Amino acid sequence: MTKKKIAILTGGGDCPGLNAVIRGVVISAVVQRGWEVLGIRDGFDGLVGEPRYVRLEVANVRGILSRGGTILGTSNRGNPFSFPIRKGDVMEMQDVSAQVVENIRALGIDALVAVGGDGTLKIGKRLCELGVPVVGVPKTIDNDLRGTDVTFGYNTAVGIVTEALDRLLTTAESHHRVIVVEVMGRNAGWIALESGIAGGADVILIPEIPFQIDKVCESLRLRRRIGRKFSLVVVAEGAHAIAGERIVQATAQENLGIERLGGIGEAVSRQLSTALDIETRVVVLGHVQRGGTPAHFDRILSSRFGVHAVRLIEKGQFGRMVALRGRSVVSVDIDAAVASLNLVDPQGDLIAVAEELGINMGR
Ligand code: F6P
Repeated sequence: MTKKKIAILTGGGDCPGLNAVIRGVVISAVVQRGWEVLGIRDGFDGLVGEPRYVRLEVANVRGILSRGGTILGTSNRGNPFSFPIRKGDVMEMQDVSAQVVENIRALGIDALVAVGGDGTLKIGKRLCELGVPVVGVPKTIDNDLRGTDVTFGYNTAVGIVTEALDRLLTTAESHHRVIVVEVMGRNAGWIALESGIAGGADVILIPEIPFQIDKVCESLRLRRRIGRKFSLVVVAEGAHAIAGERIVQATAQENLGIERLGGIGEAVSRQLSTALDIETRVVVLGHVQRGGTPAHFDRILSSRFGVHAVRLIEKGQFGRMVALRGRSVVSVDIDAAVASLNLVDPQGDLIAVAEELGINMGR
């Protein structure tokens, strides 16, 4: 086996388990195969202009298995095919992909491991079409990627939200309040749905089921009538009423290509307190869901993904993404993974179970 020089980058929003992937790649490539590994700084940004990278040795990855974030840094704005360049007071979007390809060639990189979500993997696939040998690793707390049963980071995020719900339940109960908890997930309701079920939520609102506020009020009134004076309402940031729109804090144009959601929790809380004449509070969990130590499930999945990414490179299987199917790690075409989002099926069994448990889904 010839000695290879590979690179790894982490793109998009950070997520628990990124460091475990980096560690898996480095140990598997450097220790087991004697390859060289470069860590690219700040996602694809580190390959634009003068390349920014660090040579990764085992010493660099010691002690990072349990650390959140990414030791390489990341960026969710660095799409080389539409890269923001400042021109005086304005930002202009330019295609700088040729610079990225040239930097990869000049550094003598034989293969690139792109760890990221939808956006990062799409960029990886386009670079592949330009001749860069890319292998993808799926990350996102949103769990909205197809091709894999689950993305790493998701399990940790659900655990964090569940713990928050456990804590909020006792204070809601003591004060006879309705607490509305807004969680992340972008256009997917996975975090809200699974943490809501795990945390004993009374109402869960997700983007895949546009809600009717009357139905939510009805279910909370019913709870009051049976003496349950407090309630937990979990709202995904992308949720919206049947007649309404998602609340967008910043459009993709305003925010360099990335839409920012948020605010639906506050809106739902206001409507509930007016309609029901009860005291409500809103908790927006925000980036707490992405920070800190990964759960054991994500440490293992990330480690497996890292090792499997190196195996794919060894076999020369580029344009592919490592994925979990059942209990096995396999590989799928990146194209298939990013063709559409993995969303909650409103007719699926998980929703049916939630409703059978008495959780109101806003319908
Ligand atoms: O995709 C992960 C995610 O955390 C989403 O759930 C959320 O909408 C978004 O990123 C937040 O992004 P930022 O870190 O740019 O605020």
